[in-house]
Amino acid sequence: MSQILVTGGTGYIGSHTVVELIKAGYEVVIVDNLSNSKLEVLNRIEAIVGVRPKFYQISVQDKEAMRKVFEENDISCIIHFAGLKSVGESVLYPVKYYSNNLGSSITLLELMDEYHVHNIVFSSSATVYGTPTRMPIVETDPIGNCTSPYGNTKFQIECILMDFAKSHKDANVAILRYFNPIGAHESGTMGEYPTGIPNNLMPYITQVAVGTLECLTVFGGDYPTPDGTCIRDYIHVVDLAIGHVYAVHKLESNPGLVIYNLGTGKGTSVLELVNAFQDANNMKINYRIGDRRPGDVVENYANCDKAYKEMGWKATRTIYDACKDSWNWQKKNPHGYEE
Ligand code: WQD
Repeated sequence: MSQILVTGGTGYIGSHTVVELIKAGYEVVIVDNLSNSKLEVLNRIEAIVGVRPKFYQISVQDKEAMRKVFEENDISCIIHFAGLKSVGESVLYPVKYYSNNLGSSITLLELMDEYHVHNIVFSSSATVYGTPTRMPIVETDPIGNCTSPYGNTKFQIECILMDFAKSHKDANVAILRYFNPIGAHESGTMGEYPTGIPNNLMPYITQVAVGTLECLTVFGGDYPTPDGTCIRDYIHVVDLAIGHVYAVHKLESNPGLVIYNLGTGKGTSVLELVNAFQDANNMKINYRIGDRRPGDVVENYANCDKAYKEMGWKATRTIYDACKDSWNWQKKNPHGYEE
């Protein structure tokens, strides 16, 4: 049986995707350097699906070590999550982001040539749309005017993949542009726990809820939106993970290059998410309205018709489901995967 190679497979989205791949009958091999995740995640995956995926603790940029992975397995498709992903950190250390994110992607593509692997799914981001020109966003909208080095790495890797697809008649490439992933596995045994103070909204909310953090600051209450706060497309991480299973299946039909938005198609404001979290979990979240965060766009939500039309995929879980699942994870794991 061939295997799906998942780079970054012990990360937040990666681990949820590994669970859904195994549930769908695929055999998975994980490569992760554990720079932003814990080995404990493997135990959680095994507890959920009853299978422990093969694991290699290596950096994707270590070509010699990666050759071992390809020699020891029969890789039919790669899902490439591994990469640095903090918008703020990328502004401070842009070269580290370009080197790591582009370097790891290029190494993978070179190994695909060496080992005749034809299929790759890439973890891209709505951030490639920069400041959107219209709502909801469709895949043919302009990309590239990114607002951070992190966004630029995603955009530039997309360009490399598009050229790779053009120059390889047997290549099948799925570029998946995520909107805002939130939520956790229903078991409450896997979820998001960023290193340090969370940049993203939902982990900040859950850490206030569990008492690790004192008060949520809502970045800006004077935007031109119904309640004055920014609007995003929050997608449940399990829906997002299932979208990757659909993409792997899609590549089996040799489509060449395909690009999909993975979101819900619905915009939700910061205050709407906070209120949904309070209602779903019957609790109060301590928050204050503060200054706008530089670089934030007012609105950002997806048109996901293409993913449904071409893959039959759509998000089915609600904001309420995600708020319940996020809290269920956080209250059972107040310190994330720390022993
Ligand atoms: C969402 C909204 C904030 C924290 C980023 C990346 C994107 C993707 C998802 C990787 C905004 C507000 C947040 C807080 C707040 N990551 N907020 N208080 O910025 O939409 O997207 O994460 O692919 O690439 O850009 O997500 O969760 O940081 O912010 O008010 O403490 O919540 O201002 O309006 P964002 P976010």
